[in-house]
Amino acid sequence: FFFDRRSSLYTILFALNAVFFLVFLQTVTGTLALSVFTAVLGSLQFGYNIGVINAPQKIIEQDYNETWVHRYGESIPTGTLTSLWSLSVAIFSIGGMLSSSCVGFASEWLGRRKAMLINNLFAFIGGSLMGMSKICRSFEMMILGRFIIGAYCGLASGLTPMYVGEIAPTSLRGALGTLHQLAIVTGILIAQILGLEALLGSEELWPVLMGVTVVPTVLQMALLPFCPESPRFLYIVRCQEHHAKSGLRRLTGRLEVGDMLAEMKEEKRRMDMERKVSILELFRSPLYRQPIIISILLQLSQQLSGINAIFYYSTSIFMKAGVQSPVYATIGAGVVNCAFTVVSLFLVERMGRRTLHMLGLGGMCICAIIMTMALALLDSVPWMSYISMLAIYAFVGFFEVGPGPIPWFFVAELFSQGPRPAAMAVAGCSNWTANFIVGMGFQYVANFLFSPCFVDEIVFLVFIFYFYVFTLFSSYLTNSCTSVTLLSSCFTLCIVFVIFPLHVVTSFYYFLT
Ligand code: GLC
Repeated sequence: FFFDRRSSLYTILFALNAVFFLVFLQTVTGTLALSVFTAVLGSLQFGYNIGVINAPQKIIEQDYNETWVHRYGESIPTGTLTSLWSLSVAIFSIGGMLSSSCVGFASEWLGRRKAMLINNLFAFIGGSLMGMSKICRSFEMMILGRFIIGAYCGLASGLTPMYVGEIAPTSLRGALGTLHQLAIVTGILIAQILGLEALLGSEELWPVLMGVTVVPTVLQMALLPFCPESPRFLYIVRCQEHHAKSGLRRLTGRLEVGDMLAEMKEEKRRMDMERKVSILELFRSPLYRQPIIISILLQLSQQLSGINAIFYYSTSIFMKAGVQSPVYATIGAGVVNCAFTVVSLFLVERMGRRTLHMLGLGGMCICAIIMTMALALLDSVPWMSYISMLAIYAFVGFFEVGPGPIPWFFVAELFSQGPRPAAMAVAGCSNWTANFIVGMGFQYVANFLFSPCFVDEIVFLVFIFYFYVFTLFSSYLTNSCTSVTLLSSCFTLCIVFVIFPLHVVTSFYYFLT
């Protein structure tokens, strides 16, 4: 009976895959597949470096201690160790924050492809520094390496969706855009698996775990020369009609690309009539103000949902929730993460961006409530640890249905060629800033996570609910009043940059006293 049920499930899954790939193959040429694959190798590294720091924390801290003993002849003070570790985790987002604001400039100056190629230098230097830090007995090298690899990821998080969005045919823009997120979650999962103590997460091999990030770098550098530059960039920005045409031919596999060129011509004509769009202009011009605010809020909805509190600290979260084998539970979260990104890949073109985003946020809201209740009851009802684990898995699953993939490619879709680079820079920088705030903030209040007041879950819950309501009303807002959107955005920004840090500081104070 069980076998029958399982095999019919496999048959359905196989049939679904087959249909998807048949539709897919009709529009996806070898060059397009190669170009998208090569570009998302950057996203893979982004995910890898998010996930890699989670499992080997204790082992790396031990090495920091040994270095300290070697230098100063005494054990490292606990406070100094915590600070060094926090810095090693959070400096990654600072690198990302700084570099993501240069995405517009780099992609216009060098072009999308060359910018990706040169960006690999950062990955190479960052990976080598981290990989050699143990031999050189230097935690400074590890911290610097995390900063540089963060800078790589910041640029990649803007360049990849921009390039993929520009080369993808309109009908597949959502599905191909989701591949950026799929590569991120695959990177996270690979890092979680390789981080197992039996593999590379051991005392001797953790430098290899950190340095392995250069492998996709080398592969991307080898493959990029075979990928065409974005034809939209070549035609609209560089006015190179001939090159744009040959790029289009390679990407579509068609000789006749006149219709696409005509569409680009129209976009170029409109762009030539506008002034050059700078970041300031995005906020000043009534034409761009609403889309840029929506872009920022989408990025904030992704990060302030608290997803990275799970991916940076899941091992300790599961441990505190009473789950046995927290490292394997973390890998479970990574698997759920990947599986639901694939679900989103199938749904995104059919159900639409807004519906999926709302579905994701709504589900996350319910899971966060269940999580808070399960944790509150943990002491009196031991099996609540399973409920909280399932709630965390469902939370991750709902995240990947909408809030995970959609904000990344939606910004590229929302803007035309002219303002796109500046918009991607603003959106990327907002994403990384919120990522940093959550990463740092959660760390300081982590000790109170399971305190009776559950401040953190409630803060994330309020954010998720707020963004749900915002998305629910966003279509009315887009059509009518800018001032309401502006007002609500000011409210969010105020929470993010004033109230949330205040919460962190007060919790820290509470911790010290
Ligand atoms: C998104 C976020 C990233 C997060 C990941 C989790 O890509 O941008 O910060 O870690 O999803 O899957």
